[in-house]
Amino acid sequence: MSRKPLIAGNWKMNLNHLEAIGLVQKIAFALPAKYFDKVDVTVIPPFTDLRSVQTVVEGDKLLLTYGAQDVSQHDSGAYTGEISGSMLAKLGATYAVVGHSERRTLHGEDDATVLAKAKAALKHGLTPIVCIGEGLDIREAGNQVEYNLEQLRGSLQGLSAADIAKVVVAYEPVWAIGTGRVATPSDAQEVCGAIRVELAKLASDEVAAGVRVLYGGSVSSKNVGEIVAEPDVDGALVGGASLKGEEFATLCAIA
Ligand code: G3H
Repeated sequence: MSRKPLIAGNWKMNLNHLEAIGLVQKIAFALPAKYFDKVDVTVIPPFTDLRSVQTVVEGDKLLLTYGAQDVSQHDSGAYTGEISGSMLAKLGATYAVVGHSERRTLHGEDDATVLAKAKAALKHGLTPIVCIGEGLDIREAGNQVEYNLEQLRGSLQGLSAADIAKVVVAYEPVWAIGTGRVATPSDAQEVCGAIRVELAKLASDEVAAGVRVLYGGSVSSKNVGEIVAEPDVDGALVGGASLKGEEFATLCAIA
């Protein structure tokens, strides 16, 4: 099954709602419509930017989509600071990132929480981008495949095959995030390939063949080509390079 690559630009905690409009317009200007036939492009701004991103995407009929950096596992109620899946769906969001390593590390989110958030996203028609990835100590001990598969199982366990078919998985080695130390294409392929084999066990061969598995960690226009050329890498989750309109558009055009 052929999988259309996905490039997702995670802005993290950067840009206010006015700056967001500027960046989306810059990306759209630099990325002619023809590229959207071969790559899906999404931006993942802070929650406070989503309404203005929606306005510009819908108003200018742009082909890119947008999503959220997180989603609550709850539907509504006394959860101060949380944003629900239905709120995001109402804003026209397509994706919700869950289990980003910064959430796992800085906010103590474990696999059970990530799974609950993935379920909440699916319930409201959002596509969860489920992030997993090993730290440097695990990589240096050579245990990266085993570690990532454990996180994958923990973050997807109990989902039906039909739900797993709707998920995007992002492999982001923690040591590569924001460090400029990108994984080699074969390092990325080793783990992404193992993820696909595991997805087949959790769902089916057919489902596994259709799920997009992204690589994330210091991706730029300089290295994206060789990374997405690997057979099991179906795009990238991009941090720093997604904040520069032309660079991000170039990266998307190459993918
Ligand atoms: O979500 C994106 C990743 O954390 C990668 O960030 O491209 O700045 O390394 P980065």
